[in-house]
Amino acid sequence: MKRAEVSPEEEPKKKCPRVTVKNPLDSLEEKAREFSLDMHSYEFAKKMDEEDSLRHLRDDFCVPKMKDIPSVDKTLVDNDEDCVYLSGNSLGLQPKKTRFYMDQELNKWGKYGVHGHFLGDIPWAFCDEVMQVDMSKLVGANPEEVAIMNGLTVNLHLLMVSFYRPTEKRHKILIESKAFPADHYAMESQICNKGYDPKSSLLCLKPSQGRHVITTEEILSFIEREGDEIALILMGGLQYFSGQLFDMEAITKAGHAKGCVVAFDLAHAVGNVELKLHDWGVDFAVWCNYKVSREKNRQVNNQLRHSLCNFPTLRNQLCIARLYKQSTSGKQL
Ligand SMILES: Cc1ncc(COP(=O)(O)O)c(C=O)c1O
Repeated sequence: MKRAEVSPEEEPKKKCPRVTVKNPLDSLEEKAREFSLDMHSYEFAKKMDEEDSLRHLRDDFCVPKMKDIPSVDKTLVDNDEDCVYLSGNSLGLQPKKTRFYMDQELNKWGKYGVHGHFLGDIPWAFCDEVMQVDMSKLVGANPEEVAIMNGLTVNLHLLMVSFYRPTEKRHKILIESKAFPADHYAMESQICNKGYDPKSSLLCLKPSQGRHVITTEEILSFIEREGDEIALILMGGLQYFSGQLFDMEAITKAGHAKGCVVAFDLAHAVGNVELKLHDWGVDFAVWCNYKVSREKNRQVNNQLRHSLCNFPTLRNQLCIARLYKQSTSGKQL
């Protein structure tokens, strides 16, 4: 389906707050200078590994061997060596303990049958609550504002059913161009479901000519210009395609000032960058835990230092979780 592509190119530049993020390349160059090594050398990579205080965690994961990876020219590699695994953003490595924990629950099922819902270390009826506190810290919200349930796209649909309430005057959804395809299709479905046309109701904000990222200034001035017709702003917090970290706080503020609901897909942001969903006033967010949050333990620890407070709108996720539980287990919690 053809979508409306909009470009902020011709917009007059406005003064807007900037996020200062240290370029990873600068950090690497700094390190290379410190070690007096060429940043592109094998020695530098080795030295960085040696300096990594979390390197022992690698042993907690199953790393596929070169010989088992498709599309590898086996004549060029040592087939029995671990492969270089850079796919943490799509599906992280399997933690070695996965099998143990799965077996534990399968054994419980065998032993107790249906009573497994309420027995054992992790009764199935409450299994989501085990992670609720840690997860809330990762996203900067209160535990009761967060629900762990379903897959990301399913949650996106559920939340849009509640939060996307188009009217004749305000029916548009704003996303960044090249948003994750499943998000894109979910938004198209929701627009159609509410009786509107994605051709006119889905706005995909693309970078100006020749650029790979959309500046904060461009996003904010677009919201300022078009916001009265936008019902929902739903962007990737950390864009999966370009790697751009959006200034979620500034976008939320700008969206709210124009009366829009503001939400983020945090699939690539959670456990990767600092998030303060409550403080920023984000209306809702979706994410998953099989990507970077599993791989980047260093950042996870940083996140745990933040204190948290109330984040009312995320409670809707919890309500959905409660309803879901009610309908599946028949038990009012
Ligand atoms: C940015 C982003 N959004 C959404 C999804 C979809 O997640 P799921 O397949 O769990 O619904 C992914 C999955 O890779 C993703 O990377």
